[in-house]
Amino acid sequence: QDGCPRHRLDPLGGSPHERNARWLAEGPTVPVLMPGDVPGVLMLGHAALKDFLASPDVSKDPANFAEYQQGHVPDGWPLSGFTLPRTMLTADGADHRRLRAIVGNTFTRGRIKALKPAVEEMVDRLLEEMAQAAEESPDGVVDLRARFAAPLPLEVICELLGIPESARARLHEIASTVINTDVEPAQFIAASQEMVALLTAIVAARTEQPEQDLLSEMIARADDSLQLSTEEVIATLRSLFIAGHETTMGLLMNAVRALCAHREALEAVRQGKASWLAVAEETLRWDDPVSYFPLRYPTRDMDIAGHCIEAGTAVLAGYSAAGRDPAAYGPDADRFDVMREERVELLAFGYGPHYCPGAPLARLEAEIALARLFERFPDLDMAVSEDELQYSHTFVGNIVVALPVRLGA
Ligand code: HEM
Repeated sequence: QDGCPRHRLDPLGGSPHERNARWLAEGPTVPVLMPGDVPGVLMLGHAALKDFLASPDVSKDPANFAEYQQGHVPDGWPLSGFTLPRTMLTADGADHRRLRAIVGNTFTRGRIKALKPAVEEMVDRLLEEMAQAAEESPDGVVDLRARFAAPLPLEVICELLGIPESARARLHEIASTVINTDVEPAQFIAASQEMVALLTAIVAARTEQPEQDLLSEMIARADDSLQLSTEEVIATLRSLFIAGHETTMGLLMNAVRALCAHREALEAVRQGKASWLAVAEETLRWDDPVSYFPLRYPTRDMDIAGHCIEAGTAVLAGYSAAGRDPAAYGPDADRFDVMREERVELLAFGYGPHYCPGAPLARLEAEIALARLFERFPDLDMAVSEDELQYSHTFVGNIVVALPVRLGA
């Protein structure tokens, strides 16, 4: 797509939908400028994205990222946290399978089901604490993100991985910086280094004293069956920690916002016409917490709907756009409808070899959290309008920084 005018991706992120609709009208892919004026392509069309994600001629390994190999990607580039550390997210083929093996049997149906009572207990405790906070608040307003949507997935993933309680709040704070697309290089580098230092200390402590958690299992198997170096153990822990809570937090908030704006959907669930799982799935389609995911590189020139994408071009997966593509979901793709009947494949958890291994866990958390939240607080409503919400400064995520709500009578 050289020679075409490029759309500059706003590093401040914001709600992607109006922009997605405009760009999707131009075609399933648009040439873009990423931070640092690094050129790339954003893939927005559902069919094009699905084919692309499954193509054997598409790599996630930065060895195939032409701009990076030519030295045009500056140090501390905000997307480098997603594209450089050697993990399952940046590897292909056999190496990808090796780096992903640790999650292979972690999120099986049986193991997820076994987590259910613990998640229910966490949800009930957080709801109780949120009710108390609302009582103590002079205007009855509480931040649903700080009280519920952030701590739940954070606690679940940390318990599963074995990240000690003392490190969680700081790691969560740093995670917001490393997924920020508007961050200064020096700040990005400092945050990344601090995160690696904290995780290195946690890995060292678990090596000394193993527990019943995924990290201890990863360390125990690192040398033989998993064949992971210590750097790879640390990088994998980092990916699982970030991917395991930021996204689910976004899903919970986007679902609550959607339900507050569509009380008829809430009524449909109450009457048993739709399930909580359907609410989560429709939210993932209609207001995906993952907006544009970095990066993939075609290993040969590819023709997509008449546009040539050259080998080595950096491509962002436009998940938030694909979910509202009228070519896939019909002329009412913009409508939030928990009773939607079309069975078009949802791409919100990815597709192909990098399909999200945490999808069953995210679904379990969302189902339990939404059901119990609205059972306990049926009149819960937003305390500000949609226009007043502030978004995290990232175009990778589609996540608000605070969600003030009133819990109702
Ligand atoms: C991959 C979405 C929850 C761990 C992905 C991808 C997407 C995604 C779109 C593919 C990225 C790509 O294009 O390469 C989501 C959403 C979630 C969620 C929307 C919640 C609503 C989780 C959870 C975990 C997790 C709870 C961990 C426990 C991962 C990992 C990968 C991944 C490790 C990389 C897989 C690979 O490269 O092979 N996720 N995710 N995710 N997700 Fe999730």
